[in-house]
Amino acid sequence: MTIPDSYAVFGFPIKHSKSPRIHQLFAEQTAQNLTYTAQEVPATHFQAMAQTFFREGGKGLNCTVPLKELAWQFADHLTERAQFAKAVNTLALQADGSILGDNTDGKGLVTDLIINQKVLLSNQSVLILGAGGATRGIINPLLSLNPAQLVIANRTVEKARHLASEFSNSEAQITGCGFAALAGEQFDVIINATAASLSDDLPPLPPNILAEKGCCYDLAYSTQPTAFVRWGQQPNAAINVDGLGMLIEQAAEAFYLWRGVRPDTQAVIRLFSVHDKKQLVEQRS
Ligand code: ATR
Repeated sequence: MTIPDSYAVFGFPIKHSKSPRIHQLFAEQTAQNLTYTAQEVPATHFQAMAQTFFREGGKGLNCTVPLKELAWQFADHLTERAQFAKAVNTLALQADGSILGDNTDGKGLVTDLIINQKVLLSNQSVLILGAGGATRGIINPLLSLNPAQLVIANRTVEKARHLASEFSNSEAQITGCGFAALAGEQFDVIINATAASLSDDLPPLPPNILAEKGCCYDLAYSTQPTAFVRWGQQPNAAINVDGLGMLIEQAAEAFYLWRGVRPDTQAVIRLFSVHDKKQLVEQRS
């Protein structure tokens, strides 16, 4: 039997990562001979551990919080989307021994929105909460879906304005502001890209900003409903989801970059949804 190719996810913390299970399911589906492990890597050790991983024959890495910017610096060359995002979630060993850095987060979000959630963004009014690395990674993919306007709202207003100004040539109207400036506005799609969910916190959102039959989407994912998902439980919301679909779709895109085959994401999403709902019921009972 041939030795399996080795892949891993680096992050800190990483204990609860679902990536090993997701990639194991993809590999079984597509008959790929590989291993995929999760390794706890503090930012201070990232460079040395990534070098060791590839020197010892590793074929590809996923990098998650707080390592995406370091991975961006680590890569020898970058895909266009990673170059723009200034963040890398996927490193891939190339035939010439160099390391390619990619960012599959934005593609993962857009695939989940369009294919899985059936959300149309064309001519819609879209609000992104947050102006950090996660937001950078999703702006171009969202703009490619031709929204009527894109508003970036952030706690630190200057960061939102600065990010929006990078897109002044875009066809969509794109602006940056603080949360208070959202009062009186309405949006068809609201995407939470703040790190607030990680501490079960919620950005200070004014009332009535979600349009009728609107969509609330939290990039964060947890077995318990996040603070933003709880906020989205309102009559106006036709769709109110967390980032499970995005997590699986971005993984599929990384898998495709590494192996050249596309796994069936629907089957994996179904499996995780059922498993997590069961866990939640068990925890509550
Ligand atoms: P990431 O790579 O996950 O985007 P980041 O670059 O550190 O992480 O950005 C975190 C984002 O979440 C920022 O927009 C941050 O707002 P500031 O720029 O004002 O710091 C936002 N954020 C974090 N905690 C928040 C909270 N409790 N409420 C609102 N916004 C929050």
